[in-house]
Amino acid sequence: MAQSPPRPRTEQFQEPESFLTLEQFIIDQQETFPHSTGAFSRLLRDLSVAAKIISRNIRRAGILDVLGETGVVNVQDEKQKKLDDIAHQELVRALRRGGECCLIGSEEQSDTISMNPSREDRERYAVFFDPLDGSSNIDVNASVGTIFSVYLLPDEWDPDDVIDVSLQRGAEQVAAGYVAYGSSTMLVFTTGNGVNGFTLDPSIGEFLLSHPNLRIPNEGTMYSVNEADVDDFAPELQAFLRWIKRKDPETKRRIRARYIGSFVSDFHRNLLSGGIYVYPVSTEYPDGKLRLMYEANPMAFLVEQAGGRATDGHQRILDLEPTSLHQRTPLYIGSTRLVEAAERFLQGEQART
Ligand code: AHG
Ligand code: MN
Ligand code: MN
Repeated sequence: MAQSPPRPRTEQFQEPESFLTLEQFIIDQQETFPHSTGAFSRLLRDLSVAAKIISRNIRRAGILDVLGETGVVNVQDEKQKKLDDIAHQELVRALRRGGECCLIGSEEQSDTISMNPSREDRERYAVFFDPLDGSSNIDVNASVGTIFSVYLLPDEWDPDDVIDVSLQRGAEQVAAGYVAYGSSTMLVFTTGNGVNGFTLDPSIGEFLLSHPNLRIPNEGTMYSVNEADVDDFAPELQAFLRWIKRKDPETKRRIRARYIGSFVSDFHRNLLSGGIYVYPVSTEYPDGKLRLMYEANPMAFLVEQAGGRATDGHQRILDLEPTSLHQRTPLYIGSTRLVEAAERFLQGEQART
């Protein structure tokens, strides 16, 4: 009787011991960090601790009492989910306990939070975050995320001052990252020296370097936009969407549509596979929907560090001058060739098709 061939082995399989832990990576990279005093390393550690706690709550969401709404309408005029609030609290707690962060701006709180005022002669960090992104996906067990953005506060910053000097252009960020709570939990971040991705091994509670030096493909295979709103989009954007859906004359292939409704997850997929994410102005959101300080800026920093591009259609996201904590912006982000094509359409340089 003919013997069946041996089952192929997964060549890529490696024991976790052979991966670098986030902790070791931070120690190894410390010299490339802004002000390599250790304070910044501790700040990253605090963020990763919060990420693990949030991940644990999300993984057990169906069996803990954490699904549904809190009954609160947040500053965005959106119904706050219990996990929005839990994630916010965990991040605040981890940063307060760590002692390196002096100012927090969160999607879930109308005003900034000052803390650790005794750090007068040391680096003072501000952290802006979207504690839980894509929260409409929580109750249906689809992927969600956390986004964070780190700045150094200027010397003249005073926690009691009414003049808010904490809002700086995205180009001033010293670090940015996100946590994607998908089929695995991944922490992806940059300190301005490339982008690295770490996967949480829940059995040992460590983030392990699984995606070193991430680069976004120049050409994209995916586009992500809420096409239900297409009738509200500008004619130039509608023309771009028609163009992007044409069969490529060289490859004879069409781009694929992917829209999860969780920016982190859509961004993460496009970062790995190549693509463009679009959240434009519409009748409902005349300034766009995504928030500059804790959604657009950190992802723009990441995408540029990975070789991609992010604009509001006319201007580089990282050059936008922020005027308020919760300000919104239109966003075109992803593979350079696709974002540049979108800009050509929006600026009227490419004929409508
Ligand atoms: P959040 O849950 O933090 O409020 O963010 C939701 C955002 C973003 O994650 C997502 O891409 C977008 O809203 C989806 O909006 P639409 O449902 O309008 O497409
Ligand atoms: Mn969000
Ligand atoms: Mn959110």
